[in-house]
Amino acid sequence: MSAVIAPPNATIVDLSPDLESMQDAVVDGLSMSPKSLPAWLFYDARGSELFEAICEQPEYYPTRTELSILRQHGRQIAEALGDGCRLVELGSGADIKAKTLLRILRNPDGYVAIDISGSQLRASALALAREFPRLPITGIVADYGEDSSLPLEESPGDGPLVGFFPGSTIGNMEPHVAESFLTAWAERLSGGGMLIGVDLLKSTERLNAAYNDAAGITEAFNRNMLCHINRELGTDFDLRRFHHRAFFNADMSRVEMHLVSEGEQTVHLAGQPFHFADGESIHTESSCKYSIDSFRELARRAGFMPQAVWTDDQQLFSVHYLRAP
Ligand code: AVJ
Repeated sequence: MSAVIAPPNATIVDLSPDLESMQDAVVDGLSMSPKSLPAWLFYDARGSELFEAICEQPEYYPTRTELSILRQHGRQIAEALGDGCRLVELGSGADIKAKTLLRILRNPDGYVAIDISGSQLRASALALAREFPRLPITGIVADYGEDSSLPLEESPGDGPLVGFFPGSTIGNMEPHVAESFLTAWAERLSGGGMLIGVDLLKSTERLNAAYNDAAGITEAFNRNMLCHINRELGTDFDLRRFHHRAFFNADMSRVEMHLVSEGEQTVHLAGQPFHFADGESIHTESSCKYSIDSFRELARRAGFMPQAVWTDDQQLFSVHYLRAP
């Protein structure tokens, strides 16, 4: 490993969830029926890498479509967000989208990135600090959920706070959870706004393909959650006996990912047995899909004032600017 010298304009704050809260989340999820685990458990270092690889797959259209929307409508987006804003990116992941946005914004006053994956957050905060040496950058390793308290007041700069929530990560929350999450953020961002990427409803074939890439990267990403849990919590999930399933659930307007048990088995955690019937699954992720109007309605109910929305020629993906009064 080479030594990393932190640039003077970057600060990292570590508020990552401890092992105890990870264990509570897994015990709770495996005790539910049907069994379900929260999607943040995907993102250890390997999971973040696999997600980056998913974004390169030909079937997975959201990342490249969103980037093309940001590039194509950069000037209008910069105008909507205004001069000198303090950008707060949620679930920043790789730095390419932030880089794209920071290049088009006019005189951003500061950049705060919040992500659950510490390794990735550090790497991208440092890369951005080098590319934008005069921009004060803060990385916060944390869960950015509705009830987390984040030290946003301590972020550098004094322009209006503008959230940046790309990738349709909002889709991981059920609509009523998304609504209370956005309600909390509308308050935090009061006087500024939020730029948010939202994946759109489209044909079942296209959605199913995006979550079942031919190269098997999404499958590896899904199963890596068990690997992550085994390593951190000492559970004994047998990775060969859980397989990937992903499909569009039209009634719920969401793609669901599951890990399906091959045969009956018992997994142990903290001295407790968790039994799996043959074919029983763990629901590992929902990725809710919206129409432009249904998302604007949701944002309105959360207290935002939806402004412009940008999309691509094929209406695959949308980027909304929501003003926070
Ligand atoms: C980053 C959460 C938006 O739901 O599409 C990609 C994650 N899961 N393939 C998504 C993911 C399976 C992704 N989000």
